[in-house]
Amino acid sequence: METTGKNFVTVEKSTTSKIDQIDFDNLSFGSVFTDHMLVCNYKNGAWEAPQVVPYGPLTLDPSAKIFHYGQSIFEGMKAYKDTEEKVWLFRPLDNHKRLNISAKRLAIPEIPEEFFMKGLKTLLKTDENWIPKQDGSSLYIRPFIFASGQGFHASPADEYKFMICLAPSGAYFSGKVKVLIEEKYSRSANGGVGYAKAGGNYAGQFYPTQLAVEKGYNQVIWTDDNTHEYIEEAGAMNIFIRINDTLITGPTSDRILDGITRKSILEIAKDQNINVEVRKITVSEVVEAAKNGSLKEMFGAGTAAVISPIATFGYKGTDYDLPELPESYASSLKKLITDIQYNRSEDKFGWRFEA
Ligand SMILES: Cc1ncc(COP(=O)(O)O)c(C=O)c1O
Repeated sequence: METTGKNFVTVEKSTTSKIDQIDFDNLSFGSVFTDHMLVCNYKNGAWEAPQVVPYGPLTLDPSAKIFHYGQSIFEGMKAYKDTEEKVWLFRPLDNHKRLNISAKRLAIPEIPEEFFMKGLKTLLKTDENWIPKQDGSSLYIRPFIFASGQGFHASPADEYKFMICLAPSGAYFSGKVKVLIEEKYSRSANGGVGYAKAGGNYAGQFYPTQLAVEKGYNQVIWTDDNTHEYIEEAGAMNIFIRINDTLITGPTSDRILDGITRKSILEIAKDQNINVEVRKITVSEVVEAAKNGSLKEMFGAGTAAVISPIATFGYKGTDYDLPELPESYASSLKKLITDIQYNRSEDKFGWRFEA
């Protein structure tokens, strides 16, 4: 193995590459991984220098606290390649900030910005050839931190790993998205961890989502845990609803993830003079709007799925179809945000970041 790089982030290059085995024209989402990964260990009260190493399995003690107490958090970001092969990130410092918000809530040590950004940039440079150029594809970036420290005592670990893995990816959803508005289960509660990207938040969604999938839906739309009357968010997306010409999304809270796509869409929409409301939305309001024809659009927004129009929602045994609009907010907002991400337009918001 060749070892390059000095000082801060070290690079140990893989002697072989899997890149020739990848069909970049038919990428699914998050299922193939690049040749390298970033590993940064927390020991003796401090983060050690990040290392780029060949991608591969880890060895962990069976008593590592991640397995028992679920101390694990993650982020989701993307790298985009423009037509001149320049590589771009979208609001990466916001992902770093949010990772540390999650870290604090899970009693995990925060990762310094320099470790996150320099580690990410070095990894991206090392696996630059893996960033897809195909339209609609990108390199999905998964930073995560978990408790590697040992022991069966139910208390925070004394050792952690911060890692980043990369997955060249195509679309998150293919085809029409059909969602079920949840009436029984909850993904989060007041005072809980809903606002953090904690692994356990997602594990808790799998069973209710499986039940929805068995009924023919792709996703659950979560409602508030107390009354199930308010629309909150979807599995990995915030939700927008268009009633007549007003675009509405719920306020963030300690139950809802403060999505970077969500807040970007809010700014872009305002800039486009779209009437935007951030307020609580009741399920009955949405059902009523579907019945009287004022419900024009529903879409999910998130890094992985970008903007995903919802074709149908189900509630209390009835399916409601959304109209197919020739000029939807979803498609115009998606174009505006992806044009910024892929460096196809001016970025007056200052969100694009050269990797
Ligand atoms: C629960 C949840 N809501 C919303 C989002 C969208 O957030 P972002 O736009 O930052 O990707 C995600 C994805 O990160 C998520 O997991």
